[in-house]
Amino acid sequence: MRYIPRRTQLAMLAILTMLAIGLQTETIWASGHAAKEEKGPAILLVTFGTSVESAQKAFANIEKRVKAAFPKSEVRWAYTSKIIRKKLEKEGKQLDSPEMAMAKLMDEGYTKVAVQSLHMIPGAEFHEVNVNTRLFGQMSGGVDKVAVSLPLLISDETMEKALKEVATKVVPKERKAGEAVVLMGHGTHHPSDAIYSALMYKAQKMDANMYVGTVEGSPSFDEIKDMLIKNKIKKAYLIPFMTVAGDHAMNDMAGDEPDSWKSQLAKAGIESVPVMKGLAEFDGIVDMWIEQLKVAMAHLK
Ligand code: CO
Repeated sequence: MRYIPRRTQLAMLAILTMLAIGLQTETIWASGHAAKEEKGPAILLVTFGTSVESAQKAFANIEKRVKAAFPKSEVRWAYTSKIIRKKLEKEGKQLDSPEMAMAKLMDEGYTKVAVQSLHMIPGAEFHEVNVNTRLFGQMSGGVDKVAVSLPLLISDETMEKALKEVATKVVPKERKAGEAVVLMGHGTHHPSDAIYSALMYKAQKMDANMYVGTVEGSPSFDEIKDMLIKNKIKKAYLIPFMTVAGDHAMNDMAGDEPDSWKSQLAKAGIESVPVMKGLAEFDGIVDMWIEQLKVAMAHLK
């Protein structure tokens, strides 16, 4: 009925994934030089980015909470997506890449920078940010110390915490027993895609009617749809498991095109209720990133 046939397999996958991440991220990455005259540590918040105006409130919430947690720090933003940056540029909004933002901080004389990845998983973008921003800590006359903190889902504990937050805060109260909750993760070709399968395993353990599908990885939407049909689900709440409710939420999840999740479920006789909120609109989730940021800031001391 649930995910039992694959349970053992997934549990192993989850453990292997955690081990792999653990190896890479045993400690917060930091690199440095001898100290010189100092400004306080700056914080660089790095996200994929969004051009969807209504999704911006998720970023505003992050900024508000980060500034409250670190009132003495300069807080800057960088978008990893070149497409989004170009699009915003045409609208007159200037957003930096992580490299550009680091160069500006360096130029302005900041000697310590904490870089917070606001990504969900340590995928390709996170690794690029990690490598490139740390290089600024190696430049002569550059930033003395760079600490890169980890994205949201990096351990058993963080997966469980995030799911609990979603189940208690994001899932609408009117959801009845027997109605499904389908979380839409992004998914990736990167090996860290396995985290979504681990998340699915944990979601199922928490609530037999809570599922995790992805747009570009595994578990695929087709897999989840088949499970919903098999489990005779009639109604499903669709929730983006993403920082913001941006383009994927609006189009892939809740769009009117025939290939959206909503349309495909309707075709299978399943009514869906899209919840158009990004996870960063929820304080409990934002505070998980802030916890990681605290670790990075401690490494800069
Ligand atoms: Co995408």
